[in-house]
Amino acid sequence: MSVLDIDFVRAQFPAFAEPSLEGQAFFENAGGSYTCRHVIDRLTRFYTQRKVQPYAPYEASRLGGEEMDEARTRLAALMGVATDELSFGPSTTQNTYVLAQAFRKLMKPGEAIIVTNQDHEANTGPWRRLAEEGIEVREWQLDPQTGHLDVAQLENLLDENVRLVCFPHCSNVVGEINPVAEITAMAHDAGAFVCVDGVSYAPHGLPNVDELGADIYLFSSYKTYGPHQGVMVIRRALGELLPNQAHYFNAGDLYKRFTPAGPDHAQVAASAGMADYFEALAMHHGHSGSAAETGAFVHDLMRAHEIKLLQPLLDAVKDRNDLRLLGPSIAENRAPTVALALSRAAEPVAAQLAEHGIMAGGGDFYAVRALKAMGIDPSEGVLRISFTHYTSEAEVAKLTEALDRVL
Ligand SMILES: Cc1ncc(COP(=O)(O)O)c(C=O)c1O
Repeated sequence: MSVLDIDFVRAQFPAFAEPSLEGQAFFENAGGSYTCRHVIDRLTRFYTQRKVQPYAPYEASRLGGEEMDEARTRLAALMGVATDELSFGPSTTQNTYVLAQAFRKLMKPGEAIIVTNQDHEANTGPWRRLAEEGIEVREWQLDPQTGHLDVAQLENLLDENVRLVCFPHCSNVVGEINPVAEITAMAHDAGAFVCVDGVSYAPHGLPNVDELGADIYLFSSYKTYGPHQGVMVIRRALGELLPNQAHYFNAGDLYKRFTPAGPDHAQVAASAGMADYFEALAMHHGHSGSAAETGAFVHDLMRAHEIKLLQPLLDAVKDRNDLRLLGPSIAENRAPTVALALSRAAEPVAAQLAEHGIMAGGGDFYAVRALKAMGIDPSEGVLRISFTHYTSEAEVAKLTEALDRVL
């Protein structure tokens, strides 16, 4: 397997050459990543050359519309789905809200959905509100000690009444990677659809949604090197079954059905830059192949680098008695999103880290249910350290040293 060329990677992100950020190592990537130059260049070009109503028959408009289509086509191909199965909304939170309105109409009182208490609120709160319509809400609960979601417990919750199972690919505080394909197969066997929150996973390598089998897969492009959008993959069978949430005359276009707002043209177009970046990364590392193969190659390239850097960090914190590491201490099983519960409020500790050139955050990260279920006071929160494939070994060493000083 290829080894990630970290110098090449960092050269694709203007933030690493930005004087005002020099000397500061960025460890709040789960909140929002740096943007790759391909996206910034496209955004600038759109705003300077193509900022007109798209899809009209004059040149600037035609180019703008084509670029928006290009973004959907190329991202969908990287994720192994059809172009019209991928769409954009303002954010993942907004997208789940709209999807929940659609399920509100699809489902009948007495039917059930399963949600977890491991999720970010975006993929649990809107679904729980279906209880207002007489829908039964069943909670798949994490292990209070480890934060782990046990698949055997899901088995007990599933029956013929369940229409939908909502769960995260990876929680933004527990960090553990859930077995999406296995969970999805179980849900499908019981006759239920699944909605997977991939926000905390996608930045570490776009998954092949066709292989995972998920009916809905969501992620946020602003945490995945792109602009501030929410990306939705909704597979055709479910997308055509759910009632249209957009203007009635747009019901025939699958990719328009769950975006009632007018799209942010420039940001949708600039999202093609994410595909540019993934393809440039693959090409630089000597890979060529279909879009889905490129997606898989880049995924594995990123993950291998992250795992290599993550294990020493986990080793440095896992046995400390002044903190509690949430989630697994084995790097292979988790994303490099590491939440630490301290015996004090986390935010002041993040502020101290900033004095040592570490950008990290403290708080509940909207995973209030998960923290409470693990016995952590959300008002004290957790210190969250999160990195991605563009993080260097030297930055992780600097972080470990700073943690030692501050804790
Ligand atoms: C795991 C997870 N899911 C969902 C969201 C919500 O995403 P958005 O900000 O696009 O609404 C976040 C944002 O922090 C997240 O971390």
